[in-house]
Amino acid sequence: MTVHPTFPESVAADSVFLADVHAGLSTPQKTLSPKYFYDAAGSELFEQITALPEYYPTRTEVGILDARGDEIAAYLPKQAALVEFGSGSTAKLRRLLNHLPDLAAYVPVDVSGEFLAEQATTLQKDFPDLTVEPVVADFTKPFALPETTGMAPRAGFFPGSTVGNFEPEEARALLDSFGAILGPDALLILGVDLVKDTARLEAAYDDAAGVTAAFNMNLLKRINHELGGDFDLDAFRHKAVFNPNASRIEMHLESRKDQNVRIGGETFAFRAGETIHTENSYKYTLDSFKDLAARAGWQSVTVWTDPEALFSVHVLRRD
Ligand code: AVJ
Repeated sequence: MTVHPTFPESVAADSVFLADVHAGLSTPQKTLSPKYFYDAAGSELFEQITALPEYYPTRTEVGILDARGDEIAAYLPKQAALVEFGSGSTAKLRRLLNHLPDLAAYVPVDVSGEFLAEQATTLQKDFPDLTVEPVVADFTKPFALPETTGMAPRAGFFPGSTVGNFEPEEARALLDSFGAILGPDALLILGVDLVKDTARLEAAYDDAAGVTAAFNMNLLKRINHELGGDFDLDAFRHKAVFNPNASRIEMHLESRKDQNVRIGGETFAFRAGETIHTENSYKYTLDSFKDLAARAGWQSVTVWTDPEALFSVHVLRRD
C-alpha cells in the first residue's frame, strides 16, 4: 500500500493550478483553462459581464424563460426531480421555479460545496415547500443522484450556454453523460447561444467598459498572486475574435512585445503578437445544435428564441 502524504487543500490545489499553467504555456499555441477565471474576483467580474449592454446572452435567456415558463412547466411531468448541472447562482432557476409548483425535488449540482450550500439555504427559505437536495460533484463526470429522488421522473436544466464552453465532441459526450445520469425518458432544458453577425458577437466579448478584458486579464493576476508569477499586466492585451470556421468566439491574451515571464522557477518566452488562448464560446444554429443533441441520444421536443433570434432555449427528450 502506498501512503500519500496529505497536504493542506490550498497547497494541493495550487500545485494543480501550477502544473496546468506550466503545461498550458509549454505548447506551441499557449493556452490557459477558462475554469481558472472563476476565483472570487473573476466570479464578481462575470456577474458584471452579465449586466453589460453588449452582453446579450443572460438577459435574453432570462426573457425566454420568463415568457415560456408556463409552456416549460407543461412539458415537465408532475412531481419531477429537476437537476441543475453546474448550478452556480440560482437566478435563472428561480425564474423557472415560479412556474413549477409541483416539483418533487430540486437537485443543484456544483463543484463548489460552500457556494452550493449557501445558495441551497437561501433558496429553501424562499421556497419552503420545495425539497432541495444539493450534490457536490463535477458535472462533467458521472455522479449519483440522491436516493430520495427515487423513481421521480427526471429533468435536467443546463442554462447559460455553458455547453458552448466545450469542444463540440466534448459537448456531445457531456449530453450523453447527462442522459446516463438522468435515466430513460428524461427531459433536458438548456440554453444555447446562436450564431449571429460577427460585430455583435465580438462586442459581447469585448465590451466598451473593459469588463471582459479585466475578466480575461484576471487569469494573469491570479498566476502572479497565487503562483508567484511576474506577468507585467500592461504588456498584454485582451482580444476576442469570432472564428467562423469553428463557429466560436475565441478569447486570447496577446503579448504586446517580446518578453519573458517567470512562473514557479520556469521561464516562458513570448514574441510580440503571440497569444495565450483562454476561452472558446461555441455558437450554434438551431439545427446544428439539434444535430449535436441527436448524436448524444436526445430528440428535440421544442425550441424557443427571442424575437431577434439571439439566443435559444431547447427542450430535449432522451429516448
Ligand atoms: C459562462 C461560458 C457562458 O461564453 O459567454 C462571458 C463566459 N466569457 N464573457 C460565455 C464568458 C466572456 C460565458 N459562459
